[in-house]
Order: sequence, then structure tokens, then C-alpha cells
Amino acid sequence: MSESKTYYVTTPIYYVNDSPHIGHAYTTVAGDVLARWHRQRGEDVWYLTGTDEHGTKVERTARKNDMEPQAWVDQLVENEWKPVLRTIDAATDDFIRTTSGRHKEGVEAFWEKVRDNGDIYEGNFEGPYCVGCEEFKLPSELLDGDGEEKLCPIHSRPVEMLEERNWFFKLESFTNRLLEHYEKHPEAIQPESARNEVISFIKQGLRDISMSRSVKNVTWGIPLPWDSEQVVYVWFDALLNYITAIGYGAREGTPEADKFASTWPANVHLVGKDILRFHAVYWPAMLMAADLPLPKHVFAHGWLLVGGEKMSKSKLTGIAPEQIIDHFGSDAFRYYFLRAISFGNDGAFSWEDLSARYTAELANGLGNLGSRATAMVGKYFDGVLPEPGPYSNADLALQDQLVAAVEIADAAITRFDFSGALAAMKSFVDAVNMYVTEQEPWKLAKDPKNTDRLRTVLYVMCEALRGIAILYNPVMPKAMGALWGRLGANPHLGPIASNTIASAGHWGELPPGSLVSKGDGLFPRLEDPSE
Ligand code: ME8
Ligand code: MG
Repeated sequence: MSESKTYYVTTPIYYVNDSPHIGHAYTTVAGDVLARWHRQRGEDVWYLTGTDEHGTKVERTARKNDMEPQAWVDQLVENEWKPVLRTIDAATDDFIRTTSGRHKEGVEAFWEKVRDNGDIYEGNFEGPYCVGCEEFKLPSELLDGDGEEKLCPIHSRPVEMLEERNWFFKLESFTNRLLEHYEKHPEAIQPESARNEVISFIKQGLRDISMSRSVKNVTWGIPLPWDSEQVVYVWFDALLNYITAIGYGAREGTPEADKFASTWPANVHLVGKDILRFHAVYWPAMLMAADLPLPKHVFAHGWLLVGGEKMSKSKLTGIAPEQIIDHFGSDAFRYYFLRAISFGNDGAFSWEDLSARYTAELANGLGNLGSRATAMVGKYFDGVLPEPGPYSNADLALQDQLVAAVEIADAAITRFDFSGALAAMKSFVDAVNMYVTEQEPWKLAKDPKNTDRLRTVLYVMCEALRGIAILYNPVMPKAMGALWGRLGANPHLGPIASNTIASAGHWGELPPGSLVSKGDGLFPRLEDPSE
């Protein structure tokens, strides 16, 4: 297989038992920022998301709503899960549905291959199952409920006792290969707490696991090609989306097969920590069984919490993204979650914190800088960006700070540290605001003998904003596109997204003579939504 050239990033595929909430949007925004950032590094990028549509949970929800599962998932995907991508401004390249033909074909091909390789066998399963997790549980991990009842520790709901014939995947036989892999590639699971958790789970001893379910208990799934009494276990169907979407199983020489060769392995699977084990234990073992390379990174981020608990569909604590976006806009939404929560840690969502950061960092910090710079070029130079004169130490210091901000932000994003990258960008915005306070261009404008200095200061402000716009564009594409327009950058530098991250630090790219315009505030001041 040829070395993959595409930067391939994925989100989990979400269950369509209900509508999206901000927890799902959080992962999808993070992936979108990563994808946009790497595109602006000049890389070839592929960004995949989609929906997980089979299994007991979805089937039961459909029936409870008096619908056939297919009709249920169709309406939910079209009315909720695809539209939310537009709401949060996510520019995904593809959307995979596990009920699609291309996925089913890939799933069949994959399990045929693993069966040929001798890694599955027929047996009887007996044990607890949580429908909320769609997961076989160990008696030792369960909590006590009323009387005999045992509860899932994640859903606090009773587990079901299963007894059925199905096909087992030889997970245990991959124990040493998995440990060796993670020994050799410590960066493969991030953050470090996630890696430690996975390694100790593997060391406790893996047990073979059912890869199929009996149609006596689940019919809503992909039938096993060699046993019509069985459907593929929903997780062992869903995980395969990452390869079926890019052409796994396609005949050699077809465009689909080429796509697979140039895209797999994934650079990163972004997931919440709830589904880390599936991605860092079962999935790599499955790939090994099918002779495929492993993803370069799995990053398990933390949970958005409500009242100290994971926001969730089943506990009805979900906040819909539009509830926030209708008021603050998609840019602020995208900015807030990546800035306020260190990726990998849990975070409690609060309207007060969002509102405070919006006002301080976006409206006052960044928005105000943009309005001041463009307004002064309008007022003092009729909207034509002046030519800078000789640079003072303060001007040169700011240029150095921009170069440093680009380097820090780029290094941070490439290790999935979004809050670190945003902190570096914000520090630079603060430095430019400080520069403006110190240079006092409005005072320079009062005396014609300071006009040359005024030209330079305004040029420095606008050129700094050019760099800021490029850096923030992956996070806030709408506002930064608008800022780019107001700086008059388009005719010379093309659309903002075609400007590389590195070019943000190349001083002097915005040509004097550019037509600068003021426009409305990038981040209008808002009423506090809680009032
Ligand atoms: O697990 N905080 O789907 P799912 C942060 N279909 N992220 C959250 C979150 C929260 N409170 N709630 C959900 C599934 N998420 C499977 C995945 S992948 C092959 C199959 C995000 O609908 C987070 O990314 O339960 C989490 O892992 C995912 O949604 C779970 O979505
Ligand atoms: Mg879930």
C-alpha cells in the first residue's frame, strides 16, 4: 500500500436515536477546525462525519415512535443531522450513513476477509448488555440497582441479560500486538490519561468478543454474508465507516480503490472518552485482523457536563447547538468551546462564561481592534491603506510576536491543543491592542508633522490583522472572511482560505493601496441571554 498523502480526520458517527446536541457539535467543530487548519497548511485534507443507524437502540426508538427503522433514520438524518453541519459551519467532505449500500458492501468484504484469515469462530454468548452503550458488559463493572437488577455505570439503567449463539472475534489473540504497537507509538492514543487507561485495560486481559448478534434479538443490522441468522454487531459495523467511506473493498484500479490507498490510514480519529475503548482496542485489533495499517492517532476528548454529569440524549440534558448559535453566531460557538475547555478535559457549559468571553475576547478584544484599524484608515486616509515608513522598535517587536504566535499556534494545533493555539492567538491580539494604546494614532493624526508615523502605525495595525485573520480563519471562518474583505485583501491575496498558515507571519503581504472599509462590527455587542 502506498504511503497516504491525505490528512484524514474523522468524527464518531452519531446514533440517530435523537437530535444532535452541543456534545456532538463539539467533536464536529474540533474536527472542522483541524481540517481547515491543515488545508491552510497546504495539505490535502479529507474530513469525514456521518451517522450510526443500526442496532437495538435505534430500532427501539423507531418502534416507540411508531415508525419503521429505515423511515425513522431517513427523516432524522435529513432533518437534523445533516442540517446541523450548516448550523455549526462545518465543511465536511463526506457524510457516511451505515445504512448506505457502499457501507454495507465494505462491511461484508471486511468480515469475509477476517473470516478467511481465521480470526472468527462460532460460539454461545451469555452475559449482560447495555443498549444505551450497545456494549457487552462485564459483571464486575456493573452497579447494583433495585433487587436483582444490575445497572450500566454510564447510563444508570438496567442492563439486559443475553443468551444467544453468535460469531466471536478473536480479540484476545491480539493482546501482545496491541501492547507492542502502543509501546512503539506512544503518540497513538492521546491525551496521556487516555493512553494509560487503554494500556491498563489491555493488560487486565482481553477476552474474545461477539462480532455478530442473533436475529432473534436484533434484526436492524447488516446480515452476515455467510449466516442469515446473524447481523453484524452494531459497533463492528459502525467502526468500519472510517474505511468504507473512503473506498475499502473496491476493486483495484477503480477511483474508489485509489482514494482508499491515498487516504488510509487516518491521521486522527476524534472521539469522546466514552468510546475510547472501541477506538483504541477493538478497532486496531480489527484492522490487524484484516491486514490494514492502524490510524496514526486516536484523540479522546472530555465531556461537556450538565450538573456535573455528561450531557446526553438519554438523560434529556442536551442543549441544541441552535439555542446558542441563534444568539451568539456560529463563530463564537466554535471559538468558545475550543478556547474555554482544554481538549481532553471535561468542561461545564455555562451561559455566563460564554457571554463573558464573547464580550471580552471577541467583541472588545478582536472586534474592536478590527473596527479601530479600519475606521482610522477610513478617516485619515480615505480608506486607502498607507505605505509604512521606517519601522520603530515597537513595530519590529510586534512583527516578531506575530511570527512567534504563528509557530506556537501551528505546533499546538498539530498536537490537538486547540486551547493552547487560541491562547497564543489571543495574546497576539492583546499585544496589538497594547501597541495601539501606546502609539496613540488618534493623537498622531492631530499634527501633520506626524503623518509619516501615522501611516506606519496604521499599516502595522492592518498588517497585524491580516495575520490574525489567517490564524483565526479555521476557527471563525465567517468573521475572518468579513475582516479579510474589510482589509481589502482579496484582490491581491485571493480568498482568505487560500492563504497558508505560514504566510500569516510573512510581514508585508498586504499591499499599501489596498481599499480598506469599516463595515459593521465583527462581533456585535449582545444582550446577556440570561436576562
Ligand atoms: O457513541 N460531551 O454515538 P453517540 C462531549 N455511534 N462530547 C459528547 C457528549 C458530551 N456530553 N455527548 C456526545 C456513538 N458527545 C457511536 C459512535 S463511532 C464508530 C460510533 C460526542 O451518538 C462525543 O464525540 O453516542 C462522543 O464520543 C460521541 O458524541 C458519541 O455519540
Ligand atoms: Mg453515546
